[in-house]
Amino acid sequence: MSCPADSSTSASFRPAGVSNLPSRNTSVLIFGASGDLTARKLMPALFQLSRKQFLSEEIPIIGVARREKTNESFREEMRLAVSKFVRNVTDSEWDAFSRRVFYVRTNLDESADFGSLRESVEQIEKSCNGDSARTRVVYMATDPQLFMMSVESLSQAGMIPSAESDDRLRIVFEKPFGHDLHSSQEISQSLNRLLREDQIYRIDHYLGKETVQNILLFRFGNAIFEPLLNRNHVDHVQITVAESQGIESGRGGYYDKAGALRDVMQNHVLQLLSLIAMEAPARFHADAIRDEKLKVLQCLSPGTTGSIANWAVPGQYTAGELNGKTLPGYLQEDRIAPDSRRETYAAMHVQIDNWRWAGVPFYLRTGKRFPGRVSEIAIQFKQPPLHLFRTVECDGDMCEFVTAQPNTLVFRIQPSEAILMSVSSKRPGMQYQLHPVTMDFQFEEAFGIELPEAYERLLLDVLRGDSTLFTRSDELDEAWKFVTPILDYWENEAVRPEPYAANTWGPVRADQLLAANGHKWRMPQAQDVPKKT
Ligand code: BG6
Repeated sequence: MSCPADSSTSASFRPAGVSNLPSRNTSVLIFGASGDLTARKLMPALFQLSRKQFLSEEIPIIGVARREKTNESFREEMRLAVSKFVRNVTDSEWDAFSRRVFYVRTNLDESADFGSLRESVEQIEKSCNGDSARTRVVYMATDPQLFMMSVESLSQAGMIPSAESDDRLRIVFEKPFGHDLHSSQEISQSLNRLLREDQIYRIDHYLGKETVQNILLFRFGNAIFEPLLNRNHVDHVQITVAESQGIESGRGGYYDKAGALRDVMQNHVLQLLSLIAMEAPARFHADAIRDEKLKVLQCLSPGTTGSIANWAVPGQYTAGELNGKTLPGYLQEDRIAPDSRRETYAAMHVQIDNWRWAGVPFYLRTGKRFPGRVSEIAIQFKQPPLHLFRTVECDGDMCEFVTAQPNTLVFRIQPSEAILMSVSSKRPGMQYQLHPVTMDFQFEEAFGIELPEAYERLLLDVLRGDSTLFTRSDELDEAWKFVTPILDYWENEAVRPEPYAANTWGPVRADQLLAANGHKWRMPQAQDVPKKT
């Protein structure tokens, strides 16, 4: 046992500019602590929060899993993980942090084990802050099949406080929240039998990314952009979540059941869409913000009439090439059915049927094995009403008139987080020649700090009870309502995804989706602003 609370240091606890810190009387339990998520994301994020003084030393972090481990062996595993994923961890930093890390062996599918879990947890909490914790955060980093069993066992062990109690329990759930509308509603109903909505935190790590949070601030903390973001000025919007990687080892089993639509479009992409399209909330408060996001999802509709095939395109990568090396196709990846029809790419043309956005095409796409990893929202504005400036560009004897390129406003979520605005400028010289330039605001350059990982922000928010950046059950339902008919159509019609070679920008049919309206997908790579040194 460890965790000597040093109240002399924790009394002076308060990082600059942060008013709301988790209470000292809190504990963190990670269910499924032997898994990859704990090692890759959760423990590094908790270490960083502790290092940056957001976590009082009296808050214990308790790993819970089925495997036999001691506190010492768990700490050693976590030391290796944290040193791998966090830069420059010193021995003294690790020693200070590791004192609050504990391990309790529990079978999460055995309710009988939860009585002794409760005892061990209370004992640890008492050793850390002299009393059992008033707020417990339980992170479900387990197989989703264990979610419900674990919640039932927590209930049987008397670890779910009632609304009247001063004690708090917050349970964080990782996706998948079901595989379609029906299964997601079933999960919600089962959870709601034992938990209140304010005890449920559905994590979408995209909402923890700095640029994503900045969408709200940029839109509603400035006066100049908001009047332009509507059908009068915006020509169309493109949202891209592109990954260069294929199927990571060990994920084939999951991915071949999920596919791009469930894995990324239904959650990350639709969350980005609701943030960029929502109205200003009445107050900057979790429910006011989520009410507005919900309304966007309620107004979501297909971009064209007729068959789903007219506005939603699935794709699947085939073998390709990168730097002279062959990249395997999806069907050659580990644990993928040889005849799988699962999509590794999904593109959609949708619209938002409300006063602000009626008639504006929103193009959404996500997929694996693109030529680059980039996530961005690009808003393309309408052309000026007159082309006063036209430049003659010549290539040998061939000359043509070039008009201004449309202005775009880009929220680049990754890599190199930035907000970019492209405008036309005069090229220096003796005549009016148009030249597109980009005004860029790069986060790291502007603030000179390394941006926090999404999980740091989100874990801190759970600890302090702020659910703004978590998905509410009605948002989840609305997202599934939109996506489920597409999944059903692809399934029932045995639709084969369109092939695209690995290391290319997706299937030709997805290009045709935009070409029908005279639009083109952006190639974010080519438009990247080089990082200044
Ligand atoms: C996860 C998906 O939610 O998001 C993964 O399950 C995907 O398949 C990942 O790779 C993308 O997240 P990020 O932060 O790397 O863009």
